[in-house]
Amino acid sequence: MVIPVHTNAKDYEIIFKRGILPEVSSYLPGNIRVMIVTDDGVPDFWLESLTVQYPKAPVHVIPNGEASKNFDTYKGILEDMLEHHLSRRDYLIALGGGVVGDLTGFCAATYMRGISWINIPTTTLSQIDSSIGGKTGIDFGGVKNSVGAFWQPEKVFIDPEVLSTLPLRHYRNGMAEALKAGMIRDPELFELFENGDMMDNEEEIIRRALMVKKEVVEKDEREAGLRKILNFGHTAGHAYESYYGFDKYLHGECVAMGMMKMTTDPVTKARLRKVLEKMNLPVSCDADPLKIAEFITHDKKADHDQITVVTVSKIGDCKLETWTTDEVVRRCRV
Ligand SMILES: NC(=O)c1ccc[n+]([C@@H]2O[C@H](COP(=O)([O-])OP(=O)(O)OC[C@H]3O[C@@H](n4cnc5c(N)ncnc54)[C@H](O)[C@@H]3O)[C@@H](O)[C@H]2O)c1
Ligand SMILES: [Zn+2]
Repeated sequence: MVIPVHTNAKDYEIIFKRGILPEVSSYLPGNIRVMIVTDDGVPDFWLESLTVQYPKAPVHVIPNGEASKNFDTYKGILEDMLEHHLSRRDYLIALGGGVVGDLTGFCAATYMRGISWINIPTTTLSQIDSSIGGKTGIDFGGVKNSVGAFWQPEKVFIDPEVLSTLPLRHYRNGMAEALKAGMIRDPELFELFENGDMMDNEEEIIRRALMVKKEVVEKDEREAGLRKILNFGHTAGHAYESYYGFDKYLHGECVAMGMMKMTTDPVTKARLRKVLEKMNLPVSCDADPLKIAEFITHDKKADHDQITVVTVSKIGDCKLETWTTDEVVRRCRV
């Protein structure tokens, strides 16, 4: 299946097909030179599927994990690109999760004022979330994603087959973002989790989640308004991540707990809780609610005492609400 994505900068396609990885070169121009960027957590045979198609391509392997999304790794990739004389006509290919995708995209955005790149996301999170939107970047100065650029890929290849090797915890982590998409925009997507098995419905879940993100991002590429709804569960989620020093819980796990905080109707909240428990995602934790409230208000300090949050009362129907600091504290206590 081909999902066209329209953006102000360019239109591109997501090729979504099980088993597409060994065929990607047939979708790309024949006369290009490529450099592959991946990390050492991606199993070798996925990389080999790609290198047999591009036997001459240099491969830059970074250590896996968020700690690699930094200036030094970015610099190392750029140095390698220069060393291999990559020109403005050449391509970078990202094979990996969101860390590899964000870094590679940012290198492509900045090398020689911008070259083409191909994204092959290999985690649920990167397939569902980072394959649309054009956000690239690194963590800098202790702040996540503080340096980056909007830079759209030439093509994205989503192969659900590669998820077969993903550790279960990472698998569920990304699925939290698909559940979020259902909560804000697509009740049928939510019901796929509620009534069925996440893994049995994997392809339909990824497809529907992508369609939600596509619709929202196409309407609001630069996060001026509508795109904020994608932050459902993230305002509190980021607070949990900071509270635990980005250590105890993964991003999607924090988003799961954050969604619980931002679901206002008790019946909907009970349905969400049941689904999260079924997915083995956390619904609450031992964090001090007052500290969480502090992180939320500090992080999002906008207009004096107020922050904008995304809430859901009915599944598929979200809204932006303005909460005072007191309201944040009250909600965090519940
Ligand atoms: N650009 C965007 O729009 C966007 C959106 C969401 C998240 N992100 C970024 O994505 C990053 C998180 O991405 P992630 O959750 O994919 O983490 P990740 O890239 O760190 O990957 C998680 C782990 O899975 C391993 N892995 C990857 N593919 C595998 C496979 N097929 N089989 C086995 N292991 C595999 C990796 O080596 C790594 O150890 C964060 O830095 C976040 O900021 C970006
Ligand atoms: Zn997220």
